[in-house]
Amino acid sequence: MKIFVATQNKGKIEEIKLILSKMFSDQIEILLPELKQNIPENGKNYYENALLKALWWKERISGIPILCEDSGLEIFVLGGYPGKDSAVVPRPDSTDYERCMHILDMMENKTRRTARYVSCALIFFKDVWFYDFGYTYGEITYTLRGTGGFGYDPIFFSPELNKTFGESSIDEKTEVSHRKRAIEKLKNVIQKIWQGSL
Ligand code: IMP
Repeated sequence: MKIFVATQNKGKIEEIKLILSKMFSDQIEILLPELKQNIPENGKNYYENALLKALWWKERISGIPILCEDSGLEIFVLGGYPGKDSAVVPRPDSTDYERCMHILDMMENKTRRTARYVSCALIFFKDVWFYDFGYTYGEITYTLRGTGGFGYDPIFFSPELNKTFGESSIDEKTEVSHRKRAIEKLKNVIQKIWQGSL
């Protein structure tokens, strides 16, 4: 059972591999992009960005389902910032460390620190697509904590794990992550595609 996972983010790749192999008990062959590609991500929201990725890849990959994902961090006191722009603030070429420090600076003196990660997972097969969302809630910390994960993980405290995602193992994170919760909702569709009933 093959699936093309259309992401070029190393952190996401490791997590999605783990999520899919747990979900389908290792009966799955995961194919990945070979080269770094510049894919437009100028949609109005996560869903549009996930679909743009799928439409780009469907011209290049055929015969197997394509799984795309678009995600971001939303901080309530900042009106949902950085949201769908999470990968490009404060600048597109910033490092993960600089992105975290940028958020900590913006959150200085803020006492309301609730945030959530959002993931939109989309499966595309034969010009038909299905998508769904997953969420995980937490708090923005005051300092960087841990070196695990990627992106904003060192500043995202998960009450479900009682530590930041940066302090969590990949197994722990993927038990409660927005990405796992979004992909899980597509499980039946992926199974139906493989069974030939979609
Ligand atoms: P995109 O989906 O490629 O637009 O990238 C989403 C961006 O949101 C990533 O580059 C990270 O900065 C951030 N992000 C999304 N999910 C996570 C996560 O699980 N951990 C840390 N950062 C994340």
